[in-house]
Amino acid sequence: MRTADSNLRVFYLGTKIVHGVGSVAETGAELKGLGAAKALVVTDRGIRKAGLLDGVLRSLEEAGMASVVFDEVEEDPGGATVGRGAELASRERCDGIVVVGGGSPICAGRGIGVVVTNGGKIRDYTGLNKAKKPPLPLIAIPTTAGSGAEVSQFIVLKDEEVHTKMVAGSPLYFPKVAILDPLLLRGLSFGQFVASGVDALGHAVEAFLTSVTTPITDAVALQAVTMIYEHLRPAATSDDLDAKEACLIASTMANIAAGNARLGLVHLMTNPMEGMFHIPHGIAVGTLLPYVMEFNLPASHVRFASLARAMGESGAVGSIEDLARRALVALKRLLADLNFPRKYSELQVDRGSIPQMAAMAMGGQYSVYDPSKEYSMTAPVPTTNIRKATMGDLIRLYENAFEGWD
Ligand SMILES: [Fe+2]
Repeated sequence: MRTADSNLRVFYLGTKIVHGVGSVAETGAELKGLGAAKALVVTDRGIRKAGLLDGVLRSLEEAGMASVVFDEVEEDPGGATVGRGAELASRERCDGIVVVGGGSPICAGRGIGVVVTNGGKIRDYTGLNKAKKPPLPLIAIPTTAGSGAEVSQFIVLKDEEVHTKMVAGSPLYFPKVAILDPLLLRGLSFGQFVASGVDALGHAVEAFLTSVTTPITDAVALQAVTMIYEHLRPAATSDDLDAKEACLIASTMANIAAGNARLGLVHLMTNPMEGMFHIPHGIAVGTLLPYVMEFNLPASHVRFASLARAMGESGAVGSIEDLARRALVALKRLLADLNFPRKYSELQVDRGSIPQMAAMAMGGQYSVYDPSKEYSMTAPVPTTNIRKATMGDLIRLYENAFEGWD
């Protein structure tokens, strides 16, 4: 029987979304509208060198706003970078933040905003709703079509002390504005576009396959799948600006869905791969996605049939089970077209580390694996994944990813 508690769902998005070709020209007016007078512009050196800040800085200047650039965000940033950025923001008396970059700068920039107004270190805010005061108002301008961090209430950073990820979440951490300008994606390499696009596809697919989906999240997630499936190939391989824009908007939509419907086993299992073997997030997502989808298939043929249709498959012939299975076929076809790695052995992941990876993915009680101990393979995985899994399932899924697919 359903109770009021088990039925209760909330759809929330705390971010205004401005999108369109050339939309970075709105940055100054948007930040002014948030009541700020001086911006800390957070980015990385590559983005600055590529000239992607130019339009943003011009817009701030035209709006009469002062700005100072912090371009020290590295790949996979941690608390030290956030600390340095927060120090600069405080010293320069910045009262707003503009982040230009992928998931790393956007998470670092949001962390800076929290530390400036709340004090301490970003590590102090690990967990949910730890910050008491709102962070500095922030505009996120993504330069990849992938992470969806521009519409996320979760800040994900490297925890330098325990070599894993720290996650801080609060509705306060939503960027106030996300500006989606496809002109900023033009410099991405094929590999960068593919890795981020597959990450976004992973968000959309996983958000459609959880135990807490709603009609609202389903609509957003499915449309994101449709758009990414149709546009990722031309977006990654050509200058097609319409395709790039479709991927950018779809990646934001995918994370809007995931922010409300949550994610599944793929995103649980990628953390150890990134922490232990430094596999880029999008690559980790795409190598696991086919196996986790196969694992999830028996949980809902109807949902998989919807995914298949979203990926252009037709239900004209055959049973719903056939159509459901074609979602997997379609996914593999896309990954193959994109020359995506098909197995872990191509990625220098050590097979002997699977028990440790599974333990880290389980989190909490098992996060440090002790080979001298007996582990329960039937221990349930804490996840919103549509099909309940055990630690043994995680190990089998990692093993499968080693074998690869044809
Ligand atoms: Fe992701």
